[in-house]
Amino acid sequence: MNATSDILIIGGGVIGLAIAVELNLRGAKVTVLNRDFQQGSSLAAAGMLAPQAEAIPAGPMLDLCLWSRSLYPEWIRKLEQLTGVATGYWPCGFLAPVYNTPQLSNSENGHPEGKYGNNAPSALWLDRDAIHLYQLGLGKDVVGGWWYPEDAQVDNRALAQSLRLAVQELGIDFREGVEVEAIEPQGGFVCGVRTSAGEFQADHYVLATGAWFRDLLPLPVHPLKGQILSLKVPIDNHQPSLQRVIYGSGIYLVPRRDGRLLVGATSENVGWTPHNTPAGIHTLLERAMRLYPQLQDWPIQECWWGFRPTTPDKLPILGSSSLENLSLATGHHRNGILLAPVTALLLADLIVQQKSTPLLAHFHYDRFFHKSSRAPATQMISVSSNSRPTPVVQSDNSVLTESSTSQQLTIAGRSFSSRLMTGTGKYPNLELMQQSIAASGSKIVTVAVRRVQTKAPGHEGLSEALDWTKLWMLPNTAGCKTAEEAVRVARLGREMAKLLGQEDNNFVKLEVIPDPKYLLPDPIGTLKAAEQLVKEGFAVLPYINADPLLAKHLEEAGCVTVMPLGSPIGSGQGIKNAANIQIIIEEAGVPVVVDAGIGTPSEAAYAMELGADALLINSAIALAHNPIAMGKAMGMATEAGRLAYIAGRMPVKSYASASSPLTGTII
Ligand code: FAD
Ligand code: GLY
Repeated sequence: MNATSDILIIGGGVIGLAIAVELNLRGAKVTVLNRDFQQGSSLAAAGMLAPQAEAIPAGPMLDLCLWSRSLYPEWIRKLEQLTGVATGYWPCGFLAPVYNTPQLSNSENGHPEGKYGNNAPSALWLDRDAIHLYQLGLGKDVVGGWWYPEDAQVDNRALAQSLRLAVQELGIDFREGVEVEAIEPQGGFVCGVRTSAGEFQADHYVLATGAWFRDLLPLPVHPLKGQILSLKVPIDNHQPSLQRVIYGSGIYLVPRRDGRLLVGATSENVGWTPHNTPAGIHTLLERAMRLYPQLQDWPIQECWWGFRPTTPDKLPILGSSSLENLSLATGHHRNGILLAPVTALLLADLIVQQKSTPLLAHFHYDRFFHKSSRAPATQMISVSSNSRPTPVVQSDNSVLTESSTSQQLTIAGRSFSSRLMTGTGKYPNLELMQQSIAASGSKIVTVAVRRVQTKAPGHEGLSEALDWTKLWMLPNTAGCKTAEEAVRVARLGREMAKLLGQEDNNFVKLEVIPDPKYLLPDPIGTLKAAEQLVKEGFAVLPYINADPLLAKHLEEAGCVTVMPLGSPIGSGQGIKNAANIQIIIEEAGVPVVVDAGIGTPSEAAYAMELGADALLINSAIALAHNPIAMGKAMGMATEAGRLAYIAGRMPVKSYASASSPLTGTII
């Protein structure tokens, strides 16, 4: 066991370090665990402190950004005083040229600050003549632009170094090269973290792992890649060098006082794909030369890339979590350098003084859960091998709270009130299909994209037969023999869901099945297709043989569930591989859905008692003598199995044990 501290911060990018410094200055004993300083987005950034140029719409996020920008001068002064290291903070102002004259609304009246209300930060519209006069060397087709004098910049690499030095100066325990592998919850608290360097404990924990956040907590933070490069500005006594940031459309040019010009940045939803690419660099250079043509001859100095920590609504996740002593600080997307001081301030207020501003509420993690279906604390944290949901006993011994939430299933941030998924195939007719699904209580229904698209027998009018305002469609790639086919069909599935009104549905049940006799899935093709689909932004639910290693690889590839089969599809043989399914359940950080093979409600309940998060059952309902009754029975069995899992079964004993104790018996 490593030394305990008051507060343990996981992640040492600018966000983790800024919080560490602030907490230390308020008297806390702080430890920071960081896997790899070099990999952080904080070193990859451009260091712009530019809520106005970044065009953040009016609202809580803009308020937060403007607040943080206003904290910068004093925050930097304190840091530089502490470390003696310059951070390159430069209130240089931003020029934002445009190629088309914008239509200005009356309220803006020539100034965009109309949208900010009374506390408008300053901005000035410059017409064609004014902007070319103000900034020499702009592209000829620039027709005007905004001047934002209050937007500023900092050299983010110098800032990160300075924060590290400050941490050292203040005696904060900073452990570089330590990876946190799991957060260990117990009774609504974190009781420790398991790391590559052993166990660590603290009174309070802060999770600030940037784009890698989802490795430890199942909240929707994903990497958004940015490629960026720097040029060396030639020293030319006749040409004044750039003295302000030029922020164009899809491009920015950031002059540094050390003679570099940063040219950034792409914004690519390609998962964890590393490296600079010819296409990325080409796009940046093309846009940069249009904006400021003279840079075309300047030497390229360095190219690099980083992963912005991004959430679906592009807002950070700040504040408390479902665990009493765990705070969250991530999802800073394009503005983590800008937001470092305010994040540190708000988190320290919350942790040390239990003080929270109303503004913080807008960034709480629970916005990703419907109020009525918020995942219970034990589920929220079900991310590592030994942190699967454990039974919660209420202080009054009731299981009411847990049982009422035991039906909540959360996949990719979306919650469902039933843990039973159903299908649409093999029913005698559409009406029986509709009624059986309704009787089962299922909220997720899988649809074979190929069969619907080709109007295969029994699938005509199928997709229109269900009410997709009440059910969530899970398009599947049944019938695909290769990864390439499955990727193509998944894309069609997304379009199909859109056409049926589910605009934001990016789910796909991935099936790659080359073998027609046993219909067993191809593990290699499935992994390959999953990697591609995750890159394309799909929430992938892969159907697999019950192979724990494959399940882990798929999870690492970004799949949102794993779906091991109980026995071959449509066989009704029940759960033939319970031992492997159990290992998958123990090891998975994503929901485990047992798919295929379940023939009876007792088998459904058994799979749930093992700890499966959900089931997918089609044939056993559709081929029953009375599908509606069987649908209902399967729904009840799923619920009973889940409740039994939460309740915890009695121990198995070798010998009989009388139900009525003999003590006190009158002889
Ligand atoms: P990071 O800096 O990514 O740090 C996270 C740290 O956590 C890493 O060191 C990692 O090793 C560690 N970690 C992860 N998992 C674990 C684990 N399990 N155990 C231990 N440690 C772990 N923002 C601006 O404000 N202005 C800009 O101009 C700007 N430009 C950008 C340009 C580009 C190209 C990019 C990619 C980003 C830019 N950003 C900008 C965004 C900004 O970089 C990020 O929002 C910010 O750096 C996030 O900081 P962080 O500390 O949360 O994450
Ligand atoms: N804020 C600039 C970027 O993220 O590229």
